Amino acid sequence: MLAAMSQAKVGDAIIDIDPSTRLLEETVAEMLGKEDALFMPSGTMTNQIGIRLHCIPGDEFLCEYECHIYTYEQGGFAQLSQLVAHTVVGNECLLNVELIRNRIRPDNDHFARTKLVCLENTHNRGGGRIHPLAQVNEICDWAHSHQLKTHLDGARLFNAAVATGIAERDWCRGFDSVSVCFSKGLGAPVGSCLVGTKEYILRAKRARKLFGGGMRQSGFLAAAALYGLQHQRDRLAEDHANAQIISEAVRRSEKLSLAFETVDTNILIVRLDESLGTAADFVQRLATMGVAALPFGLRSLRLVTHLDVSREQILRACEILEELAS
Ligand SMILES: Cc1ncc(COP(=O)(O)O)c(C=O)c1O
Repeated sequence: MLAAMSQAKVGDAIIDIDPSTRLLEETVAEMLGKEDALFMPSGTMTNQIGIRLHCIPGDEFLCEYECHIYTYEQGGFAQLSQLVAHTVVGNECLLNVELIRNRIRPDNDHFARTKLVCLENTHNRGGGRIHPLAQVNEICDWAHSHQLKTHLDGARLFNAAVATGIAERDWCRGFDSVSVCFSKGLGAPVGSCLVGTKEYILRAKRARKLFGGGMRQSGFLAAAALYGLQHQRDRLAEDHANAQIISEAVRRSEKLSLAFETVDTNILIVRLDESLGTAADFVQRLATMGVAALPFGLRSLRLVTHLDVSREQILRACEILEELAS
């Protein structure tokens, strides 16, 4: 990846064109089955610009209560775009048409105007759950039949595609806009793309400049993202297999349990028995034994498998987890 970055051909992506950035954008647009794409520094920016462009101040969007856009982006949609999030608690973090059917506000001066539905796939706080394609399509069809736009936070869409064998463009068909990240499972240091129609991406470019996300020789970063897409996408299957191995260790342990019945991809949310103390303490003890985890609530922690962790290290991490829990 570093070699690809150092050899990248670059220009000034703000004033004219940076060839490596453009190549990434064209590749991603084609892969996701949309007209155009725009490279940005982060998934937060692609999400925030993505939803802003579907709405005007005073509008609201429907989203799942635990989703990243609502939980982890400082309410940027309110701070930066004067939008309201209308949250709905999902079924194990997944929405379906039944849950949102009655959430569109009446056209009445009392209410914000409901304009957009946002989904997240895979779902981070949902333990990397894959939102089944049939459900996703049903929601998107329902949204469009009610004149609502659709945005996908696909930060980990590549995981969903690799785990199911369903191509990225098929996952994206029902969405007006999609955000994907290269800095997660694909292992690039920086970067996300927003995709949509040519007209939408033209507006996104203007918003990116406004948000301070215009970059000059971004080709060095785009080259890393492209390398990740071309060389590190298919190996996500190894991360998924490693997550299964950890899930078995958790199931073996009397004092650990999985927050969700299935582990679909590379994220595990593990619940701790009260006797193990708080997640913050447990995570600290894990750290001293060489296992990095994230507290995810008072008695839950998050484990993520990724390209820097080998099978051997996963097996060792399982031993440490079980040892500490017992
Ligand atoms: C589902 C999801 N969306 C968006 C983001 C935001 O990405 P970034 O950290 O690049 O802003 C994350 C980051 O973890 C995420 O998990």
